[in-house]
Amino acid sequence: MSGLYAPGPKPISYNMKNTKRHLITAALPYANGPVHIGHLAGVYIPADIYSRYLRLKREDIIFICGSDEHGVPITIKARQEGVTPQQIVDHYHQMNKDSFERFGIAFDIYHRTSHPTHHQTASEFFRTLYDRGEFLEKETEQYFDEEAGQFLADRYITGTCPKCTHDQAYGDQCENCGSSLNATDLINPRSTISGSVPVRRKTIHWYLPLDKYEGFLKQWILEENKHWKPNVYGQCKSWLDGGLEARAVTRDLDWGIPVPIDGVKGKVLYVWFDAPIGYISATKDLTKNWADYWKQDDTRMIHFIGKDNIVFHCIIFPVMLKAEGSYVLPENVPANEFLNLENDKISTSRNWAVWLHEYLVEFEGKQDVLRYVLCANAPEAKDNDFTWKDFQARNNNELVAILGNFVHRALVLTHKYFNGRVPAPENPDQYDKEVLDSISSYRDKVEDNLDHFRFREALKEAMNLARLGNKYLADTEPWKHFKNDPGRVKNILYTALQITASVAAIIKPFLPFTAVKLEGFLNAGEIGWQDIGNTSLLPVGHEINQPELLFDKIEDVTIQVQLDKLASSKKLNEARESGLPDLKEEVSYEDFSRMDIRVARILAAEKVPKTDKLIKLDLDTGLDKRTVVSGIAEYFKPEEIIGKQVCILANLAPRKLRGIVSHGMVLLAEDANGRLVFVTPEEITGEGSVVL
Ligand code: MF3
Ligand code: ZN
Repeated sequence: MSGLYAPGPKPISYNMKNTKRHLITAALPYANGPVHIGHLAGVYIPADIYSRYLRLKREDIIFICGSDEHGVPITIKARQEGVTPQQIVDHYHQMNKDSFERFGIAFDIYHRTSHPTHHQTASEFFRTLYDRGEFLEKETEQYFDEEAGQFLADRYITGTCPKCTHDQAYGDQCENCGSSLNATDLINPRSTISGSVPVRRKTIHWYLPLDKYEGFLKQWILEENKHWKPNVYGQCKSWLDGGLEARAVTRDLDWGIPVPIDGVKGKVLYVWFDAPIGYISATKDLTKNWADYWKQDDTRMIHFIGKDNIVFHCIIFPVMLKAEGSYVLPENVPANEFLNLENDKISTSRNWAVWLHEYLVEFEGKQDVLRYVLCANAPEAKDNDFTWKDFQARNNNELVAILGNFVHRALVLTHKYFNGRVPAPENPDQYDKEVLDSISSYRDKVEDNLDHFRFREALKEAMNLARLGNKYLADTEPWKHFKNDPGRVKNILYTALQITASVAAIIKPFLPFTAVKLEGFLNAGEIGWQDIGNTSLLPVGHEINQPELLFDKIEDVTIQVQLDKLASSKKLNEARESGLPDLKEEVSYEDFSRMDIRVARILAAEKVPKTDKLIKLDLDTGLDKRTVVSGIAEYFKPEEIIGKQVCILANLAPRKLRGIVSHGMVLLAEDANGRLVFVTPEEITGEGSVVL
């Protein structure tokens, strides 16, 4: 609704050039796992706040995102789960799209890089650079798995780290000592696909000569983009100071966008070459005017990303765009640092995260609470920590006690004293006037902060408007004056209601669900950004609805449930780190009962000749006498175990081991260090006793 004197639009202070339209992108998350609070805090919440803000100001803006569906980790995950990469990305694309939607992250499109539009766009892009001779073609040696018949991406090779001797280092990195490695540095390299020893083979790839663009990048970033955030500018500077090298933009892999060169087979575009082009493909499928956004100088392109994406968005993608020549470059790349969780790095493999799909179930309807906490605590300048205690405190002390409390009091008192109608002010005093006059200054402060990507500060200023209202009611105490001075109470509630209306608008970019609820209570239709500060937004006599609580208190027990969840993750991780394998997939009782486990006695034992590990056992199972071969020679001497009772899986199909047919399997317990002991009955019992 527009008030009697809506303040006119202010000149927009972020304008470096003559902006006509804004192209806002948020990093395309990999579709190989669910999204968590780190994603939200680092990228999607600031990007959404910013986009909502621009829309509220009626700017021409599109907000682009989608799934990044290529890359080696997706193929590894698919292999692990015994499904196709396409099945993996289909699953997580849908899941992440839903999570974002339910958190109110209002993309104009959530595209995906397996989409035909994208394959075509990325192929054409590559082809343009290729035809123009932009790429260097180089032959190198890479590891090849002869058993699997394929080249091995770095992540598919493990071996001993040359720096710390950790024996599970990857071809690109050792997770023990953190060194980055070349696959060819590894001692005793193994293919994780077949387990075989890989061989070196010659292969050809195409390289983007970043070094050729150093001059351009230095001018463009270091001179012309001094206004970028210090963390972003600093990282770019250190890359540029270190000198750039040509980067391969193709890979030997069968999942991705095929290299569009005649006669080239089994090679795809490097995922970091195709993914950012995904922003272009998404725009194409969003609007037929896509080229206006990408090719007109008066577009302002902003990339929201996390800090691990800086080099790709500030150096590599801009070089690609520059080399192609017809596209705009980003105006800003407001990257955030990382969010930690309870003092530890968020990690998918260690299940150390708050997953959005789980939060949505466990904290139904509380999306704005998480949006609030993650924005208030965003890792804008440095890494930051999310704790459940802080989550609870911010909900209870800020959302409930300030915002919720103020709004509730203003609305409830209006119902109580004036039948839910906005009272007419009578001779407002100095305080009333000052308060009303100050409202628009909050909008100015929020704008200034948002224009400079200071989201925490912007949210604080928005909350300060609710704080002002809260303090105003506490100072004026309308509930004490109604009997003696109803005129005074009319002024107070008139003032409080006007603040409330402005609050409804000022929180919109940050707390969209709450803003809609509040608008519903106010019964005043949509309140616009330009209405903030309008001191007669709710006209005298306007009838408001019955309010409900905007937020409710979060109790200790609720927080404890979350802390307990993290504690069990920690326990599991410790067990894993100590060498214990993960719990296997659940089985039914029926599955279990098909195993026939019995007690048997070892009658004779002898080492299997020419083996290190195998012992041949003659067993009395109570039902029969039989031979079982067991890999225990490193731990037991044959003569020591004769006469022992052990447990065996008696109905295992016979298998031939070193020429001996083994009828069953002796059960052993293996500890975290690989030491084996027999599983034996606690007391001597009859041979053939059944283990249940
Ligand atoms: N998938 C990448 C990540 O999660 C981000 C890709 S952003 C894009 O780190 F621009 F390349 F798409
Ligand atoms: Zn190492």
